[in-house]
Amino acid sequence: MKMKDRVVIVTGGSSGIGKAASISFAKEGAVVIVADKIANPREGGKDTVSEILDMGGISIFRKTDMTAEKEVSELFDFVVSKYGKVDVVVNNAAISLNKSVLDTSADEFMQVIDNNLKSAFLGCKYAIKHMLGRKQGRIVNIGSNFSFVGRANLSAYVASKAGITGLTRALAVETAAHGINVNAVCPGGTRTEATRSLLEDPASLAELGRNIPLRKGGKFIMEPQDVARAIVFLASDDAEMITGSSLLVDAGWDAW
Ligand SMILES: NC(=O)c1ccc[n+]([C@@H]2O[C@H](COP(=O)([O-])OP(=O)(O)OC[C@H]3O[C@@H](n4cnc5c(N)ncnc54)[C@H](O)[C@@H]3O)[C@@H](O)[C@H]2O)c1
Repeated sequence: MKMKDRVVIVTGGSSGIGKAASISFAKEGAVVIVADKIANPREGGKDTVSEILDMGGISIFRKTDMTAEKEVSELFDFVVSKYGKVDVVVNNAAISLNKSVLDTSADEFMQVIDNNLKSAFLGCKYAIKHMLGRKQGRIVNIGSNFSFVGRANLSAYVASKAGITGLTRALAVETAAHGINVNAVCPGGTRTEATRSLLEDPASLAELGRNIPLRKGGKFIMEPQDVARAIVFLASDDAEMITGSSLLVDAGWDAW
């Protein structure tokens, strides 16, 4: 059990990749705090905490809007008072916006930046506040393959995800002397509620098929568990000497 008794906060842990990561951490023995605006998965089905408790794991839900600094501060105070420490924070909460630049209002642009980049900044800030004294801690921010390449009609999302890799590098440098590792996992197309309409559209799926080179038994769209494994790796002792890194998990989409 790689994460035995580690205290792990997963933001956006109710749905999709965050849910898969929460369950993977619990399977490795971690105590998992699911911090999300909603308790029930966007994709439907059983909630994350119930699934973990049914497996015999330890998990608790904490309703948190990661864009609200007071709520983030209270989340960390709650976790430290209940469990005594924070070992790992996964800043996964995010939204998307599929609109041309001319159709995107400044308010909509800032809403995406707030939910995707400010939320990760606040998650990092309060994680570091509580990790500094212990001289250890792991932060995994969730970027995207669009942290590295552009995409039409996704300007706010792409800008927010490019920001995640910069934030990750800057904080890795700032906290390295305190034994804190800050890394990012950057997924490509992954089957979640966020991508359901895209993946149900035959033309979009065919385009992805042309652009994603890796095939595993015909599979080229990732499942949330494929990304979760990389998140747990970067949070584990196996990644002890990795910091400031942004790991693409995209079946080779960005490789050409
Ligand atoms: N699915 C993909 O193909 C894909 C590709 C690249 C990157 N990503 C990234 O992976 C992460 C997870 O994506 P997903 O597909 O699982 O998304 P999802 O929409 O299925 O789940 C996101 C979760 O985040 C929560 N959330 C959103 N804003 C929040 C806030 N302000 N405070 C608290 N919780 C909030 C939502 O309630 C939801 O439960 C995101 O950072 C996303 O940008 C996903």
